[in-house]
Amino acid sequence: MLQEKIEQIKKNFSIEISKIENDKQLEEFRVKYFSKNGLVSSLFSLLKDAPTKEKPQLGKALNTLRIDLQNQFNNVKEQITKGNANKIIDIDLTLPGIERSIGSKHILTQTLDDIKSIFKGMGFSVSEGPELESDYNNFEALNFPPDHPARDMQDTFFISDDFVLRTHTSPVQIRLMKSQKPPVRAIMPGRVYRNEAVSSRSYCMFHQVEGLYVDTDVTFAELKGTLASFAKQFYGNDLKFRFRPSYFPFTEPSAEMDITCFICKGEGCKICKQTGWLEILGCGMVDPNVFDNVDYDNEKYTGYAFGMGIERIAMLKYGITDIRVFFENDYRFLKQF
Ligand code: PHE
Repeated sequence: MLQEKIEQIKKNFSIEISKIENDKQLEEFRVKYFSKNGLVSSLFSLLKDAPTKEKPQLGKALNTLRIDLQNQFNNVKEQITKGNANKIIDIDLTLPGIERSIGSKHILTQTLDDIKSIFKGMGFSVSEGPELESDYNNFEALNFPPDHPARDMQDTFFISDDFVLRTHTSPVQIRLMKSQKPPVRAIMPGRVYRNEAVSSRSYCMFHQVEGLYVDTDVTFAELKGTLASFAKQFYGNDLKFRFRPSYFPFTEPSAEMDITCFICKGEGCKICKQTGWLEILGCGMVDPNVFDNVDYDNEKYTGYAFGMGIERIAMLKYGITDIRVFFENDYRFLKQF
């Protein structure tokens, strides 16, 4: 009989102790089990009615029980007073964990990484230059003489008479050629600035990648081959492309490269303004005047250059229709990539 009672109390004790969360419950629990008239003492008072033969053994069992319960109680008391709620005991370790989002690279960084790895595969290295640039590097050395109307092609943020926020990455060509002799084969990514009204199609700051290859006997055919290979690796093998004559002061001849519209496959749609073609970059053969400005022998060397907007390249690839989303850091946009 007493043995059964011992088991019962043990069971209730362990259920109830696991529910204690604060000092008040702790004290109520202590009174219930350990006070003078508590459940543990009441067991001892039952001992006198037990058969004499069993008394020593039962007495021993009761003492062990009391010590065991007291120890459990002391542990929980310590937890509660230290501020660790006893709830810890309730944790179900078999429940699935909470998944944490680890984030990802910004889509412009991913696009630039892809562009870099394609050009690295074709033997180009990567160079960078400053965003605050001299008027000389940004314009003059690139064959835009002062007051040349071509300066109007790029709305410039002037910092002073001699310094500008670079309007393109082409000044890095000048820096590179001034610092090393041919052969030069590099791409030059970076941020550029234009004083334009912000809209879905243009922003006052964006990113470009410049490319430059200078050596003896570099030809326009190589330029076309390199850019066609890039476009196919980036947008897919089934794409068609074309080169249209264009004008840049620092290249002669100059061209713009179009690819078939990836939405309508060349049939004509809203994105390509019904033409079937999308312009992706500007390019050309380096103008001999530019070689003069960096002390390269323009009789001996030829070269090609190209430049593309990273936002534009990404917008076309992923069907993004508003350039502003790249810079607003809206999580709903960012998490799609
Ligand atoms: N710098 C030109 C632009 O920003 C692009 C370009 C680069 C064109 C190199 C030809 C060669 O529009």
